[in-house]
Amino acid sequence: MTLNEISSVREKLLADLDTLTGADQLVAFQLAHLTRKGTIASMFDQLRDVPKEEKPFAGKELNALRQLVEERYKEKESLLGATTSASTRSTIDLTMPARTVPVTSPGHEHPLMKTLNEMISIFERLGFAVEYGPEVEDDEHNFGKLNFAPDHPARDMQDTFFVKPSADWKAGETAPLLLRTHTSPVQIRLMERQAPPIRAIMPGRVYRNEAISARSGVAFFQLEGLVIDKGVSMADLKGVLLSFARQFFGSDVKIRLRPSFFPFTEPSAEVDVSCYICGGKGCRVCKNSGWLEIVGSGMVHPNVLTACGIDPEIYTGYAFGFGIDRTAMMRYGVSDIRDFFENDYRFLEQF
Ligand code: PHE
Repeated sequence: MTLNEISSVREKLLADLDTLTGADQLVAFQLAHLTRKGTIASMFDQLRDVPKEEKPFAGKELNALRQLVEERYKEKESLLGATTSASTRSTIDLTMPARTVPVTSPGHEHPLMKTLNEMISIFERLGFAVEYGPEVEDDEHNFGKLNFAPDHPARDMQDTFFVKPSADWKAGETAPLLLRTHTSPVQIRLMERQAPPIRAIMPGRVYRNEAISARSGVAFFQLEGLVIDKGVSMADLKGVLLSFARQFFGSDVKIRLRPSFFPFTEPSAEVDVSCYICGGKGCRVCKNSGWLEIVGSGMVHPNVLTACGIDPEIYTGYAFGFGIDRTAMMRYGVSDIRDFFENDYRFLEQF
């Protein structure tokens, strides 16, 4: 390596620097010439082969070359406004292994949807179709055709959220719409649309204007069931609910029916399942009664069938309505319904 060679490298590098127009080219230039394996470093390596007497001159020239090129490189860098200086670049090391996020439990279904989907699949295996209806309903479907008398307390402002049909609607003009207070209006819509035989479940969200507490919220889920055919009796209702309870809560549970009242069923019954935790002996979950109330039910009232154009002299049927949130609470031993909606990962992760 002669002094001439050094000076021609200098000319070439300075000329090259002049032609650079962007950050990418700056980086390429730096890698090619200014790193430990670059042009200048390798020229320092070649000093070894330079005759002893010339070494000091060559070394001096090389040092000057390195200094000059580095200086010009920095000028060029600030001229182009690029931020490729060694200090900023070194904070990003693309060769580092990727950081893995520790996942203790991958994403999964919400406990309410898990309960609902399990219930749906049990009823599907029992031959039920799945139907859906609107959450904003009219009075006819939510109450009227379900045999609620005009002055029935459930129509009261206390329980129902009303919806103005339009922005300029005034009280008394037309009946307001409402957020359905139960899934039973889907029964009505189905019977209006389809002639018997009918065998369907109707899951969905319902709304009630109630005080929020550990046992109830203003929005919750129900799962309705409806069977209409010739010769359907209360024994069929009991058989289907027993079969459901055994698949859902455990094969050795028992059920019992207690007389109850709903405007749209006659006779009506609350159905309890023997406590699957204590086997009926009494515990915290069943509040020492040995029984858990799981569903309201009954034989569809003849007035309801008539209102939907079905002849009650020919057809009979039964209906039932589960509260999904309550069922999930029983299933998982959750004591506060609000836990389902707080999105606390420590709670949700357990299911
Ligand atoms: N719709 C009733 C409720 O919300 C439940 C029910 C459904 C009862 C069908 C009987 C038959 O409480």
